[in-house]
Amino acid sequence: MCGIVGVLGDHEAAPILVEALKRLEYRGYDSAGIATVHDGILDRRRAVGKLVNLSDLLVHDSLRGKAGIGHTRWATHGAPTVVNAHPHQAGPVAVVHNGIIENFRDLRQEVAAAGMSFVTETDTETVALLTQIYMEAGLGPVAAARKTLSRLEGAFALAFLFQGEDDLIFAARKGSPLAIGHGDGEMYVGSDAIALAPLTDRITYLDEGDSAVLTRTSLEIRNADGDLANRPLKQIQLDQARIDKGGHKHFMAKEIAEQPTVIGEAIDHYLSRDGARVVLPEPGLDFAKIDRLTMVACGTAYYACVTAKYWFEQVAGIPVDVDIASEFRYREPPIPARTAALFVSQSGETADTLAALRYCQGKAAGIVSVVNVPESSIARESDLALPILAGTEIGVASTKAFTCQLTVLLMLALKAASDRGVLEDAALADRLSALRALPGVLNVALERETEIAEVAARLAEARDILFLGRGLMYPLALEGALKLKEISYIHAEAYASGELKHGPIALIDKSVPIVVLAPRDALFDKSVSNMQEVMARNGKVLLITDAAGAKEGGEGAWQIIRLPATDPILTPILYALPAQLLAYHTAIAKGTDVDQPRNLAKSVTVE
Ligand code: M6R
Repeated sequence: MCGIVGVLGDHEAAPILVEALKRLEYRGYDSAGIATVHDGILDRRRAVGKLVNLSDLLVHDSLRGKAGIGHTRWATHGAPTVVNAHPHQAGPVAVVHNGIIENFRDLRQEVAAAGMSFVTETDTETVALLTQIYMEAGLGPVAAARKTLSRLEGAFALAFLFQGEDDLIFAARKGSPLAIGHGDGEMYVGSDAIALAPLTDRITYLDEGDSAVLTRTSLEIRNADGDLANRPLKQIQLDQARIDKGGHKHFMAKEIAEQPTVIGEAIDHYLSRDGARVVLPEPGLDFAKIDRLTMVACGTAYYACVTAKYWFEQVAGIPVDVDIASEFRYREPPIPARTAALFVSQSGETADTLAALRYCQGKAAGIVSVVNVPESSIARESDLALPILAGTEIGVASTKAFTCQLTVLLMLALKAASDRGVLEDAALADRLSALRALPGVLNVALERETEIAEVAARLAEARDILFLGRGLMYPLALEGALKLKEISYIHAEAYASGELKHGPIALIDKSVPIVVLAPRDALFDKSVSNMQEVMARNGKVLLITDAAGAKEGGEGAWQIIRLPATDPILTPILYALPAQLLAYHTAIAKGTDVDQPRNLAKSVTVE
């Protein structure tokens, strides 16, 4: 989390930095700040809250200079105050940081013993102070920053700016991503290439442990051992539409509406020309050589994995273990022979998922990732990276990335079934043809929006909401509850319908709405029985089903939302849409900040 940016340019840096930070605000919005060097003087401006507060401050209290660094913060150490906002300055050096300096307490003691005093509660200030100490001891700016780096433990992307140096930025990464942008007589640094999109599409990604010395006309990169390193300069295809809401009130609304299109594109991408097979990019993956899958992810991506477990096990007969990355990485689970490890991540930068991937390197029979950002660390460190092609997702609550993840995972499961000879060609072709029709079905589901908004306005009055689902609808219930709590701040929990009577049913009374996700599938009768148990205890059921389900099991439900019928295997993708719309409109009814909900950040690059 946190976004960092730097510019050595030919124009005033402040507006460029603010524009770049706007593109990084998805990484955190607790505070924002910039520092520049003008006439040799290092100065900074910082403001609490969203970037707009910094922009307002700069209108009244401008900051001149053509060299600068900037930061948008997701608070880890210290409250979101102006004092704790980056850039942190100590004498002749200013620093912006994404990550956590794990040994900052030890370093703080050392710095305090050297007679320096702290003004912030952050870990980052130690970096600035240490550099100041080394500079005062006679080292030049780069040597001082390098010496500081050698003292740091933890994860970081850092950019340093120095008093008296208006053609120098020092940057380094360990555990957090960093991209260098090449302009014409200008040089930039950013947490990702998208931050730099309006400035350049010529990008060099720093590798793990790299540090870089930037001037307007040169870039020198050294690896973790201090040796000069050659990193490729890449021409990046960047999604310029990134900060455009396309006429929608929120990015989330736009991203929900885009799903039929992007899912259609993802399906086409992985289909053979004749539409009869699933084709993977090189080096591919032969599931006939795989006995087991381990899937690891966080948050919504984890729920995509839980859904895929049902698909891989039921359709392809492959046993699947699914884990939350933050647990997996420290549990040191054994990885049996012929096990492929599969990581799902929208950003491709989630720190826990990346660490889990690294744990599996050299142990698993293949590292596969399903990602939205093809240049991300997770994609680059995989043997096979499968893009989900959702396009840039800005809303902190993941929507189109989730359904595109599901689409790619389902296609992977179908390929696995075919590779392993458990799905005949004709049956595979039938499934793929139903999948090709899915975007049309999703469009019909989106037409229910007004109806869903009316129900959501009533849900907004609730304090607690339960989500229930069976089989493929259970992970979707988990995702529906997560979506709702993320953006409406209503407490929501999900249970497998059959589990309710083992405890959670005690929560049911007339004030608790229960969202039941139940297409008319093989498990429908069992879901209806569980729904009856709830209604018998005055539970208010919102049933999301199809026409047949509404007819057969809808009696007594408080509200019913009817979706089109589809192949049961596709229902997680279809039923995700009303779950997202329900969360979106509940949040609208409550007046919360839909795209940037409190306390969250889009890309979670710290543990
Ligand atoms: O970028 P990732 O897919 O790895 O992110 C994982 C989670 O942080 C993410 O899905 C999070 O749960 C979303 N805010 C959910 O809407």
